[in-house]
Amino acid sequence: MKTYIVGNWKMNLSVGESSIYLQKLLKRIKLAKGLEVAIAPSTIALQSLSVQLERSKSKIKLCAQNFYQKDYGAYTGEVSVMQLRGIVNYSIVGHSERRYIFGETNKDLRQKVAAAIRNNITPILCVGETENERSYGETKDVLRDEIFGALSEIDADDVKKVIIAYEPVWAISSTKDAKIASPDDIADSVKLIRSELKEIYGKEVSEEVPILYGGSVNPNNAGAYLTIPGVNGLLIGGSSLISDHFVDIIEIAKRVKS
Ligand code: 13P
Repeated sequence: MKTYIVGNWKMNLSVGESSIYLQKLLKRIKLAKGLEVAIAPSTIALQSLSVQLERSKSKIKLCAQNFYQKDYGAYTGEVSVMQLRGIVNYSIVGHSERRYIFGETNKDLRQKVAAAIRNNITPILCVGETENERSYGETKDVLRDEIFGALSEIDADDVKKVIIAYEPVWAISSTKDAKIASPDDIADSVKLIRSELKEIYGKEVSEEVPILYGGSVNPNNAGAYLTIPGVNGLLIGGSSLISDHFVDIIEIAKRVKS
């Protein structure tokens, strides 16, 4: 299985700043076999960065942060995943900021996962419990609900086109009083996610779905996170905005996974 390093820039960097950042990456990153690197800038920067990547013949991929689940129509202000075809290879779906700030429901996410697959874009489905849910011992139930909620209409062939990102909300750097997740915490949740997938799709299929970890990843902990059994990559927020850090994490991934 490939190793995925994905930078989620969230609502940061102008179009010009995004282009300068990408220029830096293009100069410094050498991709290796089996390593997939993607950046998720804001929607307005996707088009120009895709031209920049095409001109440089780079294998760095683009990832959207979100989209609307209908393909086209009277949905003022929205961008569909169909409109993102040819520009991005991936899209984040159901980030906790979308769930909790913008009220996205399991039903929305079920439609988004289906829309992404229908349009040949790989959804990176985010799941993860809040601090409260964790303290009440509800992690397993939350992960189950979020996975089943988003994938219930996806069959075994299509689920192989999905990536899952485990992002405990309490470990995301922008969460108030965020904590650093220990490799043991992550290993337990990744096991739960895989066993959930196994229950729905069977063992073989469950082992083909990449699971990424996200939450306060930086160059100091990336190596430890990447060696957790069952973790196939990282979804990085804050640290991905610092190009030196993002490059360092990519180098660490090359070493750890080679
Ligand atoms: P941080 O790496 O800033 O904790 O963000 C994680 C995240 O939300 C990536 O999607």
